[in-house]
Amino acid sequence: MRILAISGSLRRDSHNTALLRAAAQLLPPEVELVLYEGLRDIPPYDDDEHHAQPASVQRLKQAIAEADAVLVSTPEYNHSIPGQLKNALDWVSRPLISSPLRNKPAAVVGASTGMFGAVWAQAEARKVLQAIGARVLDRELPVPSADDQFHPDGRLSDEETERGLAATIEELTAAVAERRERIAA
Ligand code: FNR
Repeated sequence: MRILAISGSLRRDSHNTALLRAAAQLLPPEVELVLYEGLRDIPPYDDDEHHAQPASVQRLKQAIAEADAVLVSTPEYNHSIPGQLKNALDWVSRPLISSPLRNKPAAVVGASTGMFGAVWAQAEARKVLQAIGARVLDRELPVPSADDQFHPDGRLSDEETERGLAATIEELTAAVAERRERIAA
């Protein structure tokens, strides 16, 4: 089972990318997590181009199509998701009928240096994913004060946050298994 992990941050030392890397340490043996690294290459959405999508967009769509589930970790920019994440999701949403996100199990987590842990951004990301037709888990994982949340080796320092991340992965993999059963029935 493969989870495609998408960080909404382009920053080299991103806490959100670190959160996804921490998630990769918590996987059951049958699950792999692939970190998507191409968000920076995606141009601004242009509806004139949506029939001939740029190669960077095709790569993202392919990566989503090849994954069983998607895990998004979003920073919060001015109480919303970063433009680059929204932009990428807009590209992936077109054409809607064949978007690889349709019916795909998806989960959202988020880290911020503030005290609320990107709660507004997570709600926003879930809303956008739902609009595209993904099966979005009814849970979030707010990681506040992100500067203090990681050990130097990348592990999470707070046990409750680590448990929450593990529970998110467990629920996401259960959603994939459920979807497979539905398709096979
Ligand atoms: C922020 N940050 C922020 N944090 C927050 O909790 N609520 C917010 O509304 C905002 N707004 C905001 C806007 C902009 C433009 C920036 C650059 C930053 C702080 C943000 O949470 C912090 O920079 C995180 O570390 C960003 O995530 P990464 O890059 O570490 O993954």
